[in-house]
Amino acid sequence: MHTFLIFFQSGVGGLMQFLPFLLIIVIFYVLLIRPQQKRQRQLQDTIATLKIGDRVVTTGGVIGVITTVRDTSFLIRSADKSILETLEEADIPIMASCYEGVCGTCEARVLEGTPDHRDSMLTEPEKAAGEVMLVCVSRSRTERLVLDL
Ligand code: FES
Repeated sequence: MHTFLIFFQSGVGGLMQFLPFLLIIVIFYVLLIRPQQKRQRQLQDTIATLKIGDRVVTTGGVIGVITTVRDTSFLIRSADKSILETLEEADIPIMASCYEGVCGTCEARVLEGTPDHRDSMLTEPEKAAGEVMLVCVSRSRTERLVLDL
């Protein structure tokens, strides 16, 4: 009430006092709130198109398969460990040297399943054939992967 009284008493000059605050609010909306709302809408549209079983890569670089889709979120199962890390956790020894997928020491024959090749040694035709894999960096694309170690 007191503010309106000052406004009416001072006329346009009173309005000019509020102009910087109005400008800050408008700038705040245009630069922060509106882009955030737009990103949120895009995320919800993307989530709406996802299906269970889709392979995704998150902005953080996590590769996984979608297991559950909800209204505003989804769950993924990620293969964040290499076969070698999994074998070492299970106390199954395997020869390895570079641990970077460049030497071939850890090569294993694939008997069943589909490998997720992440090495830089096998050629594209070898990777496509899926008969061998370098377990130090590679993972499994399938639930079950049987190797001849
Ligand atoms: S340890 Fe060198 S490629 Fe796996």
